[in-house]
Amino acid sequence: MAQKTTPPVATDTTVQNLDLTWWRNAVVYQIYPRSFADSNGDGIGDLPGILSRIDYLKQLGIDAVWLSPFYPSALYDGGYDVDDYRNVAPELGTLADFDKMVAELHKVGIKVIIDIVPNHTSIRHEWFQAALKAGRGSAERDRYFFRDGITKTVNGKTVELPPSDWESVFGGSAWEQVPDGQWYLHSFAVEQPDLNHHHPEVTADFLKTLRFWSDRGVDGFRVDVASDMVKNLDYEILPSWKQIKDSKLWQPGQHPLYDRDETTDHYRQWRKVFNEYNPPKFAVAEAWVPPERKHLYASQTGLGQLFNFALMITNYDAADFRKVIDTNLEETAATGSSNTWVLSNHDQVRHATRYGLPFDKTTTPEAVARDWDLHEGKTVPLDAELGLRRARAATLILLALPGSTYFYQGEELGLPQVTGIPEQDRQDPTFFRNYGIEVGRDGCRVPLPWVSGAPSFGFGTTESSHLPQPKWWGDYAVDQELADPNSTLNFYRQAVALRKQLLDGEQLTWLDFQVPGNPAATNQVLAFARPLAMNPPALSQHSEVNVSGQWVCVSNFGNQPVPMPDGDIVLASSPLPNPAQLPGATTVWLTRCDA
Ligand code: BGC
Repeated sequence: MAQKTTPPVATDTTVQNLDLTWWRNAVVYQIYPRSFADSNGDGIGDLPGILSRIDYLKQLGIDAVWLSPFYPSALYDGGYDVDDYRNVAPELGTLADFDKMVAELHKVGIKVIIDIVPNHTSIRHEWFQAALKAGRGSAERDRYFFRDGITKTVNGKTVELPPSDWESVFGGSAWEQVPDGQWYLHSFAVEQPDLNHHHPEVTADFLKTLRFWSDRGVDGFRVDVASDMVKNLDYEILPSWKQIKDSKLWQPGQHPLYDRDETTDHYRQWRKVFNEYNPPKFAVAEAWVPPERKHLYASQTGLGQLFNFALMITNYDAADFRKVIDTNLEETAATGSSNTWVLSNHDQVRHATRYGLPFDKTTTPEAVARDWDLHEGKTVPLDAELGLRRARAATLILLALPGSTYFYQGEELGLPQVTGIPEQDRQDPTFFRNYGIEVGRDGCRVPLPWVSGAPSFGFGTTESSHLPQPKWWGDYAVDQELADPNSTLNFYRQAVALRKQLLDGEQLTWLDFQVPGNPAATNQVLAFARPLAMNPPALSQHSEVNVSGQWVCVSNFGNQPVPMPDGDIVLASSPLPNPAQLPGATTVWLTRCDA
């Protein structure tokens, strides 16, 4: 009799404990694979490169990595233009490399989150190619949004216009014409046609993709453009761009392009797939939605967690931080999920640079930074030292907050934004579609420096680097920072390790901190307490058993020192020349024991 075979399932539970809520307070490290580490010297980071740096990731103490897309792609949008959702780009490795990387990360207790891009495919995806061939009115075109254009007579001449005046996120029209005259919708780059998620094959295929990677052992998914995945273009005449932009015109959940109610029906189906696994797979949504809609994505019947990007667009200011923290903790509590704190990612100007630029209350720090990059610093002065000092102070606040923290590769080295990348080396479509107005995101995607004196600063084995690295990049190289006890890398390592030891529960209590006779300085200080874990190893100097108390975080956003609050100092974001004082742009963690 033939023996029954069992399908391969991810059974690597030896090291991962089955904590169903591991993600609630996880420290997640975003890897942008093409810029992380290059194993074969072709100038492109790859999966074996990640494998070779597992010890580095382990020493950083993170709980999970999130990998930006590593799928086959022509890189029209840095890999967010996917040719095939169930494969690895050949220049990045193979599925076997992927499996090995996952297994080795799991061995050291690091979970793996991958990016899933459901809003659009690449024009090279087999569905889009089939749609082009099959022609107008075909079933193949129904997987996307193909429409006829509008014919008009202008000055006696017949011209054909796109089906609507909608704009793409990267600039220019959101419609592109194909040779037979029809147009397709692309919310992002021309090469990223939007998928029609009302089509059952599209729905089914994404469920298949989720199972494919889940079976290979990934622990979760970051869902790209999660809130805008489902669209309704069922209009006789499509609304104008002005109407689209006017959110007041649309009932909640009924906007043609964003945050539609049916989106959450899809995610409920995704959740069912996630729950087929033990522990269930995790997901975090990239969704810029109003507070009252957040629960639809963050609930445990939906994706489960939602990115909170608020701090990325907040000035380095005590009152602004406090407002963002309060609002987001409240909103997240209402969803039953945990918060996500982020200062940088592959789409934003690195925060060490943002914080070195002057405040502008009329716009976002991100906009100030982009403008500064565009003019290569000519119009706005940058104080890079202050920027880094503030960045470290902000990181120490983040790591003391309830919820998970997302790091972006290189921030642990204190990397600044790279500016002045020559036009011929630029890759980001935002640069090319907004010529002279938008500088794009390449400046935060420059390959990491690992070894100061090595070719490509140790990113790879040759001089080759897919985006040019500046001459001074070696100053931030891992080898340099490891040798310096006050480096940003050593600071990150200590902070993450300590957080793990001190963390207990998700409660936060604001503390009243006063600088006697100085209300202005008082207003620049944030102080809060968290419950202190019982007997954290960091406090082993306390010989009493059952040490309990408070883990206190105090941050001075001002320029002048303030008196150091009571408690035992366990970590400061910058050196403390006088332990009786908390310097400006510095955060300190203290413990206060009950005993
Ligand atoms: C990703 C971007 C990408 C866009 C289109 C975003 O939210 O983070 O990097 O360009 O989606 O996929």
